[in-house]
Amino acid sequence: MAISATHDGPDLIGEIVGDRYKIEEVVGAGGMATVYKAFDQTLERAVAVKVMRREVVKEADQLERFRREARAAAKLSHAHIVTVIDAGEENGRPYIVFEYVPGETLKQRIKSEGPLPITESVAYAIEIGSALVAAHAAGLVHRDVKPQNVLLDTQGHAKVADFGIARELEASDGLTKTGRVLGTTDYVSPEQAMGEDVTGQSDVYSLGIVLYEMLTGDVPFKGENHVAVAMKHVKDQLPDIQVKRPEVSNALAAVIEKMTEKEPVDRYLTAASAVSDLEDVLAMESARAGGLTGEATIVFDSLPKRSRNLAPSGVSHPTRTKVAWLVAALAAVGIALLLISQLESGSGGDAPSTKAKTGAVIPFKSTGSFDPFSTGGGNEEHDEETHNAIDNNVNTDWTTESYQGGVLNKPGVGMWGRTYKAATAATATVRTPARSLTLEIYGAKTLPTNLAGWTKLGDSSGDVNGKRIPLEKVPDLRYYLVWITALPPAVNGTSKARISEFVIRN
Ligand SMILES: Nc1ncnc2c1ncn2[C@@H]1O[C@H](COP(=O)(O)OP(=O)(O)O)[C@@H](O)[C@H]1O
Ligand SMILES: [Mg+2]
Repeated sequence: MAISATHDGPDLIGEIVGDRYKIEEVVGAGGMATVYKAFDQTLERAVAVKVMRREVVKEADQLERFRREARAAAKLSHAHIVTVIDAGEENGRPYIVFEYVPGETLKQRIKSEGPLPITESVAYAIEIGSALVAAHAAGLVHRDVKPQNVLLDTQGHAKVADFGIARELEASDGLTKTGRVLGTTDYVSPEQAMGEDVTGQSDVYSLGIVLYEMLTGDVPFKGENHVAVAMKHVKDQLPDIQVKRPEVSNALAAVIEKMTEKEPVDRYLTAASAVSDLEDVLAMESARAGGLTGEATIVFDSLPKRSRNLAPSGVSHPTRTKVAWLVAALAAVGIALLLISQLESGSGGDAPSTKAKTGAVIPFKSTGSFDPFSTGGGNEEHDEETHNAIDNNVNTDWTTESYQGGVLNKPGVGMWGRTYKAATAATATVRTPARSLTLEIYGAKTLPTNLAGWTKLGDSSGDVNGKRIPLEKVPDLRYYLVWITALPPAVNGTSKARISEFVIRN
């Protein structure tokens, strides 16, 4: 029996494709194809058969695209990419046979479970990322990285599927410019939304959004329609992941920010460099969690030694790029045109950008309060709480004592962090719930006993929360001090300063 030329969808059930694959049930459906679970009667095993919809077969370019999907995916052999087994045509309808992946899609998992455990999210991102590294190495950009296209097998491993709109980096035959409506813009990179060149970096962006969704249970941008969402990818800053999921470490937040930079020059240049930082984060997270469970353990065990041995470090920090309003306005027009004409993005292949802006979080080993002008003689400034400012958790903090009238009765009060080894920080970031704070950052090689022993490196005031404070780059420092010189406005007659996180980067 062959695929009926007049039936589609579930009606294929019970039929045999390619004299071999007995169609059993529908497991998924997209814009141009239906995916069935089938039984391979020759090898006596389950397979997945993706059959092009009948209506779509009439479109020559779609037909060609479908054939390409088979060839593209068949080029790739990777543990985290769904394997192509066979391909063919029945009654003019092309089909592709894949290994059958029992389980659910990553989207289904997030929908049913909400936010996933942090280490598992990172582990999945590493697996998906490694699949992208392989695809990019073969000259293919996936262009449709989303949790609907990630299958989770029964062991909990991720497999990337659907190279349906994947494109050869060098291809410039116009084929990619025609035809298909973008299914969702929830994961679209700004350059893809704008119809600009799409490279492997676009997949990195989409993976960053997928990771964001795994950690928060939701996509970062919502809108009335695809155009509105795509616009937000182009011009809105990604919502702060640590607000949505406070246990996310600074290091992990920094990797996500760098994966989702709007400008490709600011983003990870390659999937490989993103994966490498994710591996470092997984190593750190496992140290913090005192061990891992499930999927994350397996991924962790296969990490390169480099990452496993790593103390927290190696995580590059992103530089947020402000997208100019002009660009944003142009973007609105660009996206509208793009979607209305149902064009897909992509013109000629291009080399990845070569400009990189990187910096690593310099971890602190220990902390203490610094209160040289104290009159009380005791430990009013809560020395024992200072570690709360380096625990990667914005929900815990170091607080000063309460000051009457919100007035600091001394020149300042502070807390320091001591690095593992000599460092040259370029920026400092202080997270504080305060509405406004005035502070200075100092550095020293050995712990000074008075303020004059420190070297001033930078300062900030007002709404300092989360700001990158530029520092004078003094080499070989071991101690970094946040020195508070003015408190937030008093509430009910008193005020105190609170620091939830103190981070330096090089
Ligand atoms: N190899 C497979 N094993 C099991 N289920 C699959 C497989 N491939 C796809 N599916 C299911 O079918 C859905 C659609 O497959 P996909 O290749 O993404 O097609 P489309 O191009 O229509 O989006 C997936 O989201 C998944 O639920
Ligand atoms: Mg799909």
